Amino acid sequence: MIEHAYIHIPFCIRKCNYCAFISGVEISNKDDYIKSLIFEIKSKYKGDKLKTLYIGGGTPSLLEPSDINKILNCFNYDENSEITLEVNPETVNKSKFIELYKIGINRISLGIQTFNNDILKQIGRKHSRENILSSYNILRSTGFDNISIDLIYGLPNQTLNNFISDINQAIELKPQHISTYGLKIEEGSYFYDNLPENLPDEDMQAQMYIKLSEILKNNGYKHYEISNFAHKGYESRHNLSYWLNKNYYGFGLNASGYEGNMRYKNTSNLNEYLKNPLLTEENNILTNTETLENEIFLALRLSQGVNIKNIEQKYGIIFKDKYKKIIDKYTKLNLMKADENSISLTEQGFLLSNEIMSDFME
Ligand SMILES: C[S@@+](CC[C@H](N)C(=O)[O-])C[C@H]1O[C@@H](n2cnc3c(N)ncnc32)[C@H](O)[C@@H]1O
Ligand code: SF4
Repeated sequence: MIEHAYIHIPFCIRKCNYCAFISGVEISNKDDYIKSLIFEIKSKYKGDKLKTLYIGGGTPSLLEPSDINKILNCFNYDENSEITLEVNPETVNKSKFIELYKIGINRISLGIQTFNNDILKQIGRKHSRENILSSYNILRSTGFDNISIDLIYGLPNQTLNNFISDINQAIELKPQHISTYGLKIEEGSYFYDNLPENLPDEDMQAQMYIKLSEILKNNGYKHYEISNFAHKGYESRHNLSYWLNKNYYGFGLNASGYEGNMRYKNTSNLNEYLKNPLLTEENNILTNTETLENEIFLALRLSQGVNIKNIEQKYGIIFKDKYKKIIDKYTKLNLMKADENSISLTEQGFLLSNEIMSDFME
């Protein structure tokens, strides 16, 4: 049974300087894209009621509510399904979001990145701080009561104080959920070819991360995943499905899915996708060991960590024997906590998560 689905909408008004996602400005292809997407969904969806649906991008809030409604109508839902739309501030207007609310979008993920107008310009965002505040008010007054915001730290010219100010301004908006990402200079982005000056170094990114966690925790947010904070009960159920290694559909250009023990990725070529939306560019059948390692890797992202009993039952291993050396090493360094039923990373461990996780890979 597959109860989670991700849908990729690749259109953007313009490309942000840090972004290497499969997204572009080919909005003229929108109608053909929606047709291909619906064809793909109808071919692959098996009819189980969805617990979560996530429409991401790109900028899915560029679509008309009628297009989004066509997509939503392809699925059956649980009575409490979480249906998220990724939204860019400059695309928000009242009448559009009244419609989106009516057709069933019940969670918004708003891409703020920073409240600092100079930095917003430098990273190529279309919106200003004033846009952020007005779009947020529109969303709230329309009735959306489950709003997540995205922030980035380590942006060019961002100081620790700048970032603390971003966190405080974010808290003032009272979003239920906050995602925060350290800036990555990704191949394929404008910044990759034109490295900006005044980039905070790794140490500064780490200081920002520690401050972030401290301030958000003091303000009632739970640090439930490496990059995510939420008020109790507002953790992203969709993203939890990834971290708990559940199966999910991926629909749309370059979308990834996970069905049974197969991971697939759709083609990332728009013209190919329009011709044949069932074309994949990767299909990997995971071995038992790979599935186990993935499950550990994903669970270590969560503050609740790895549920040892579940893993032992599923994979027939004695977890603490198999990974004794690694657990001893990192608990001694205070980067990992272990009790009878779980192991998890500490806040310091989160900072070194990639290194620790790779130790679990054979
Ligand atoms: C899939 S992206 C798109 C969301 C939406 N289109 C927007 O721009 O607001 C989701 C989030 O990833 C983060 N992100 C994208 N590229 C990044 C990068 N190179 N480094 C750090 N965070 C990044 C941003 O916070 C962004 O809001
Ligand atoms: S960050 Fe968002 S709006 Fe900017 S190019 Fe990437 S997907 Fe588009």
